[in-house]
Amino acid sequence: MPKSSIALIGFMGVGKTTIGTLLVKKLGGEYQFIEMDQLIEQMAGKSIPEIFSQNGEDSFRKLEIKVCQKVSTFKKFVISCGGGSVLNKINVENLKKSCIFILLETSIETIVNRILKEGIQIRPVIDKEDPINDIKNLYHLRNPLYRSVADIIIDAENKDKSIIVDEIIEKLKLDN
Ligand code: S3P
Repeated sequence: MPKSSIALIGFMGVGKTTIGTLLVKKLGGEYQFIEMDQLIEQMAGKSIPEIFSQNGEDSFRKLEIKVCQKVSTFKKFVISCGGGSVLNKINVENLKKSCIFILLETSIETIVNRILKEGIQIRPVIDKEDPINDIKNLYHLRNPLYRSVADIIIDAENKDKSIIVDEIIEKLKLDN
């Protein structure tokens, strides 16, 4: 693989963190896993909902830019990217220096179910008054943008996690 890291991108709830963790395991210690949101929380010393409520979304997005710059210098990492990170051109430019972009896609229904199950309070970008419609609108707005920057697109709907991981590994081999 010419680029040394793997960026998992896509909408909230598609499984970037779950699949990223399993992918690293399957790759057998060759790669390390990192979650962008965790780095942002460490940098801010508070949770993402707290950053949004106390400092505002702009402040969160600035931290996100810093974290993208930082992880783009890492080698041999699988990075779970926050759902909004690759909507910013600066972040795409930074991450593309070292990462191959893998988009995970599921249906909107799956995303809605997962987000509601996990609790909308941990997803500050979603409108609490009408979460289902908000998720649908955001998905339609964002998914074409994810597709436009993706190197590889994986259909992650209704598939066993291990099958998704195997597909990623297979496509990485084929594409490089
Ligand atoms: C966001 C997605 C979240 C997190 C933040 C904003 C977004 O990450 O970065 O709440 O704008 O889509 P996940 O995609 O990991 O949930």
